Amino acid sequence: PRPILLTRHGESRDNVRGRIGGDSGVSDTGEIYAKKLANFVEKRLKNERAASIWTSTLQRTIMTASSIVGFPKIQWRALDEINAGVCDGMTYEEIKKNMPEEYESRKKDKLRYRYPRGESYLDVIQRLEPVIIELERQRAPVVVISHQAVLRALYAYFADRPLKEIPHIEILVPLARLAWDLDLELLIAQLIVAI
Ligand code: G3H
Repeated sequence: PRPILLTRHGESRDNVRGRIGGDSGVSDTGEIYAKKLANFVEKRLKNERAASIWTSTLQRTIMTASSIVGFPKIQWRALDEINAGVCDGMTYEEIKKNMPEEYESRKKDKLRYRYPRGESYLDVIQRLEPVIIELERQRAPVVVISHQAVLRALYAYFADRPLKEIPHIEILVPLARLAWDLDLELLIAQLIVAI
């Protein structure tokens, strides 16, 4: 079986400030993750000449991939984070305080809730279809560096998880400082899905 490695981007500057969406670059902590990921990928895929690295079109995933050398990189708009529409750039606290109805509707049905002028999880799942078709066609390993909502949907597809679980799946976060105490191989290995 050929592995598909799914990982979130390294911590972004907006992650540090608790802001959702946006297009910030990675923080210093995110930079460390990028280097560790590059080591891991280069070691793990050193005999896989046809392997490729897929990112979204957002800076935080492109920067996370930037230390990896020796493999082609492809950017997919379909791998971009869920579009938070009018809430883009806000913190969850701000949404709760300034748009309490939106906050509550999302809490009630996170799968179907669509951010005003943005997307729902169902929208994300739908736009991922071409990515999934292309992943299925690959004969070599693929490293997908993307975002939480998108990875939840991809992971659920490959791991055969029910639709309703998708918005709540735990995607390991390479963001917390605590993560550096864990074995990185383990951190990523948990996200390897063989198909
Ligand atoms: O900014 C977007 C988050 O990665 C998605 O997380 O759907 O749990 O709010 P959430």
